[in-house]
Amino acid sequence: MDSLLIKGGVPLQGEVTISGAKNAVLPIMAAALLTDEPCEIRRVPRLSDVEFMGRILTSLGAKVEFTGDSVKIHAAKITDAGDYDLIRKMRGSICIMGPLLARLHRARVSLPGGCVIGSRPIDLHLKGFRGLGARISIEGGYVCARAPKLCGADLFLGGRAGPTVLGTTNVMMAAALAEGVTTIDSAACEPEVVDAAKFLNSMGARVSGAGSPTITIAGVKKLHGADHEVIPDRIEAATFAIAAAVTHGEIKLLGARPDHLHAVLDKLWEAGIKVERNGTALTVKRGGRLKPVDITTQPYAGFPTDVQAQMMVLMTLTPGLSIITERIFESRFMHVSELARLGADIAIEGPSAIVKGGRPLSGAPVMASDLRASAALVLAGLAAKGSTQVNRVYHLDRGYENIDGKLRKLGARIERIDET
Ligand code: EPU
Repeated sequence: MDSLLIKGGVPLQGEVTISGAKNAVLPIMAAALLTDEPCEIRRVPRLSDVEFMGRILTSLGAKVEFTGDSVKIHAAKITDAGDYDLIRKMRGSICIMGPLLARLHRARVSLPGGCVIGSRPIDLHLKGFRGLGARISIEGGYVCARAPKLCGADLFLGGRAGPTVLGTTNVMMAAALAEGVTTIDSAACEPEVVDAAKFLNSMGARVSGAGSPTITIAGVKKLHGADHEVIPDRIEAATFAIAAAVTHGEIKLLGARPDHLHAVLDKLWEAGIKVERNGTALTVKRGGRLKPVDITTQPYAGFPTDVQAQMMVLMTLTPGLSIITERIFESRFMHVSELARLGADIAIEGPSAIVKGGRPLSGAPVMASDLRASAALVLAGLAAKGSTQVNRVYHLDRGYENIDGKLRKLGARIERIDET
């Protein structure tokens, strides 16, 4: 298992190109199952989760071919049950269910487990499928859905923590081939949902309203092959922006979508970080004194849960008290105890982390627990004095394309160690 050895204290300088968004490409790859014609998806990040999705689609019978940053998927003939273990291992694979149900009228998907950030139920996905007329049962660890015919319906998909991102896309994909019109209320407004809707429309679907809380899908009989370029990864962009801030550096982010980053940029400004926009380029550098900020994670367009851990690192370096409240996932503070090893002073009170910032961090061996917690530990290591070894970086490889290479190009002293 690889680890990353970081010698901190170097201000990062230079340009970095933002890769395609992991959370957009996974459901878009699944959407290619909706047609028997070939599809091509471009700006595909080379990530272990993306390769994993490719293997899942292959196990369903699709031809999947990665070349450079594009993937061709041809799902001419597919079956309804993919490899149980492959599907079980990646939560994002639940989004094959909507396309399978729409195309084959049945789907068998291994029940995704919880994960370190929370219990991660799929009740809202299933509520949507039921609303479209599917019968759902749990058999031998599989969720089985059957629907001789899917019929458009008025659906409400709001849950305890608000809308569901993958649930909205999953149900939208199923409704694309349903008979009649479906409306999804309390739909997730994330740019990844909009990107999936755009891909569906380029396949011949009739989806409108994506990006707002009400999505309307007029079902069509058949979808055709299409080409699509995935949106840039707003979470990767935010992570590099914070890397500039925590290392006293100056980083130009190329190919980002500043319009997807308002909540993050707003908090960075409030914290005293300078962000200059020039088209799709964003230059981020430390301004004057850092100021503590309070953050509450929310569904889009609020502050994203996927940037909470990284922002916490900036707050540990900021003199004063910051309160960071996590409202999307119940246990997404696994990074707190690891940041404490570097000298951070953070107390957890219910859904909030109270950060007493301003003390310099000093390097230590730490253990990565989930993707964004791992990114936070890398940022902390870059800011800390001395060496930090981040163990179990396979989490990071699930969601950040060549992160150590990109950081090295910005001047970071970071080395990958193969521990096998
Ligand atoms: N929820 C339910 N029932 C459901 C589905 C979700 O109660 O059926 C709850 C969840 O427990 C959570 C909230 O709704 O409290 C939001 O979860 P959501 O369904 O929106 O999460 P997701 O779609 O499974 C995606 C991203 C996550 C990201 C969240 C929130 C992918 C592959 N994953 O997950 O990304 O944190 O949206 O924005 O798109 C990451 O990239 O590190 C990551 C975890």
